[in-house]
Amino acid sequence: METAQKIIENISENKIHQHYISISNLNVSFGSQHILKNISLNFQKNKVNCIVGPSGGGKSTLLRSINRINNDDYNLIINGSILFNNEEILIKNKDLTKLRKEIGMVFQSPCVFPKSIKENVLFGIENHSKLSQAEKDSIVEENLKAASLWDEVSTRLNESAKSLSIGQQQRLCIARTLAVKPKILLMDEPTSSLDPISTEAIEVLMNRLKAEYTIILVTHNISQAKRIADELYFICEGELIESGSKDVLFSNPKKEQTRTYLFNGTCNC
Ligand SMILES: Nc1ncnc2c1ncn2[C@@H]1O[C@H](COP(=O)(O)OP(=O)(O)OP(=O)(O)O)[C@@H](O)[C@H]1O
Ligand SMILES: [Mg+2]
Repeated sequence: METAQKIIENISENKIHQHYISISNLNVSFGSQHILKNISLNFQKNKVNCIVGPSGGGKSTLLRSINRINNDDYNLIINGSILFNNEEILIKNKDLTKLRKEIGMVFQSPCVFPKSIKENVLFGIENHSKLSQAEKDSIVEENLKAASLWDEVSTRLNESAKSLSIGQQQRLCIARTLAVKPKILLMDEPTSSLDPISTEAIEVLMNRLKAEYTIILVTHNISQAKRIADELYFICEGELIESGSKDVLFSNPKKEQTRTYLFNGTCNC
């Protein structure tokens, strides 16, 4: 029989797991420009949490606030709360290096370094120069496999990363991000510069990675959201218009603006 204490522990554990990232009353401005307006939402663990909405609405600003990559923007004013595993991300003395290891980011265009494929994978790992050759090889193989790239590059690991196709470069960026062992992957339109075949490869990959990672994906592509989102968040002009499970939002949204955006791709916010 479970004790009352055990049951309470399980309940609170579940709560943390359900609301892995919990955002309350988040406001972001750049100078006098108010970009994110009182956003409150929860991102779910081991899901593809997908943010959609028209251009300029604040999707990237939201994503960038989560690992505080916008921290050094001189005119940034940010307040509210972003809890990650019940710890506040927005506190002043947050260890940002540690935060960005736990919350990795993949950008719109693949950004590989002018180094070999192998060195790109190892790039973010602290003190990797102190690892043995065997340890390095094993990290490289593990993460290229995780990013579904190993089979295509295993015989050319010392070639320049720039020699890869754009779709392969994007998967290399994902491998590099995974090598740091994050818990969350922020992905800002990771397939917008890719052809349909590479896009499909990344979508299959995201679907697989969510078993181990929590994914927060921004996409312009409503069909993509329909294919791979678990949870959907519709943001327009800095406001969260509606959120919920993908199936519910695509079948029976509560707000007319959501229906118009998801069904017609236009915006009447
Ligand atoms: N560092 C910054 N300084 C000033 N304004 C900024 C900064 N970053 C973003 N903005 C402004 O914030 C608004 C929202 O931008 P953001 O990039 O978050 O939108 P988005 O929804 O990601 O758009 P898109 O779909 O085109 O990528 C825009 O008006 C943009 O000009
Ligand atoms: Mg953007």
